[in-house]
This record gives sequence, C-alpha cells and structure tokens, in this order.
Amino acid sequence: MTNVLTRNSTPEKGSGIPSHIAIVMDGNGRWASKRFMPHSAGHRAGAQNLRKLSEYIETLGVKYLTVYALSTENWARPEKEIAGLIKLMHEYFQQYIDDSKKNDMRLDFIGDASRFEPELQQKIETLKTITRNKTGLHVTLAINYGGRDELVRAARALAADTANGLLTPDKIDEEALTRKLDSFPTPHPDLLIRTGGEKRVSNFLLWQCAYSEMFFTDTLWPDFDKKELHAALDWFGGRQRRFGGR
Ligand code: IPE
Ligand code: IPE
Ligand code: MG
Repeated sequence: MTNVLTRNSTPEKGSGIPSHIAIVMDGNGRWASKRFMPHSAGHRAGAQNLRKLSEYIETLGVKYLTVYALSTENWARPEKEIAGLIKLMHEYFQQYIDDSKKNDMRLDFIGDASRFEPELQQKIETLKTITRNKTGLHVTLAINYGGRDELVRAARALAADTANGLLTPDKIDEEALTRKLDSFPTPHPDLLIRTGGEKRVSNFLLWQCAYSEMFFTDTLWPDFDKKELHAALDWFGGRQRRFGGR
C-alpha cells in the first residue's frame, strides 16, 4: 500500500524499522527548570540531542526524520525565549552548513519561513540547496510550522489554481491537496514519537499522521537517547497496521 496519499512504506506487522520517523521534541523547558537553568539552556540541550540522535538514526536505515522545532503557536512565548531560539537556529544551521561538506544528510524545512529575518531565510535556502542531492537521512525541520496553517496555505494554493483556470472544483481530491502540502513529496510518517509526557499532537502534521503509529514517553527531549529510541522501535515493530482494512 504505497500511493501518494499514504505513502507509508512499512505496512506489515513486525517489519521492523520505520521508513519515516516524526518527533515532537517536547520537554526542553522542564529539563532546564529542573536544573534551575533558563529555558534557552534546555533548547540548546535539545538541539544538541537532535544532532547526536539523527546521526544514530541514520545508521539504522531510517530514510526520513521530521522533527517539530518551532510551532506557529510558540511565538506567544516570552520575547527572550523566542530570541534565544532564533539565535540557536542561526548557530545550528551554520553548523549544519559546515557539516554538509563531510556528511550525507539532506536538510529540509516545512513551515512558513517568511516570518523569519532574511538572514535566517538565507541559511534555510542554502541548506536546502547544498544538501538537495545527498543520499543519507532526509531530515526535515518543522519551524514556524502548524498543521492547520499548512492546510490553509494548501487550500489557498488550490483556490488560486482554480481561479487561474488550472483546476476545476471537482478535481480537488485528497491527492490534489496532498500535493500542495509543504511536506510533499516526503512520504507520511510511519511512527510519531512525542517526548515530554503530553499525549497530544499540538498541531503537528495533522494530515500526514492519519495512520501513523503514536508513541508517547514521559522522557524529556534532551534526555531521549538511543535506549529510549529502541524502546519506541521495539513497540513499533509489534504494531499491526491495517489502514482501515481487516
Ligand atoms: C519544546 O520544548 C521546544 C519548543 C516548543 C520550542 P518546550 O519548551 O515546550 O518544553 P516544555 O514543554 O516547556 O518542557
Ligand atoms: C509542541 O510543543 C511544539 C514543539 C515541540 C516545537 P508545545 O510545548 O508547544 O505544545 P503544547 O503547548 O504542550 O501543546
Ligand atoms: Mg512544551
């Protein structure tokens, strides 16, 4: 069962390693508070963990990793925390640019980048361009991303095509909408992991997670390590995916 809509590639029971893992990297704030540190220290530890864990995930044969780094709703946080997150993105994107000379990872982005300052947008474009032909793990960072916002922008794009005579309303189906999503043509996640204890999707990949297996753990993101990842993978290996069938 692989088509443009589900594009899930590991439907059988016990097929082991998921092709696409998505992670809601939650719990940075609480990780820092527990240590009497500012939230920014938690975000830094979280970014460091992403670097480390994605390198490991690549060795497992996973093809896609999509991580939630900043939501459309997170702008409501204190100015200082937002400034810290922007600074961290500048720093880490630069590191990823430097790393690209020696590693195989492909870096991609979903979300509305137009809200970011031009310099950061430039780094995003550079990363996308210079890693486009890399054949290693395809990492997608969701920044200023909201599932609802993505769907609204997709609906707007379909409306524009209709107004321009490229499309008629009866041709708007699930596939047409899927093609307008930021995430297209990346397959939909097989496994969604959320760290930090909350059991909700918080506006992440609303359309794409229709049939993803969901793993929730209390572990805070900066503490989510190889061992924790293997617990999620073991659990995933035991799931029977039916996609609504028998
Ligand atoms: C997730 O960690 C990262 C972002 C939302 C940017 P949080 O900052 O939400 O961590 P908690 O939930 O406060 O612990
Ligand atoms: C989701 O976490 C967003 C990211 C991890 C980037 P939040 O901490 O923003 O979500 P809520 O507020 O717990 O729903
Ligand atoms: Mg949180």
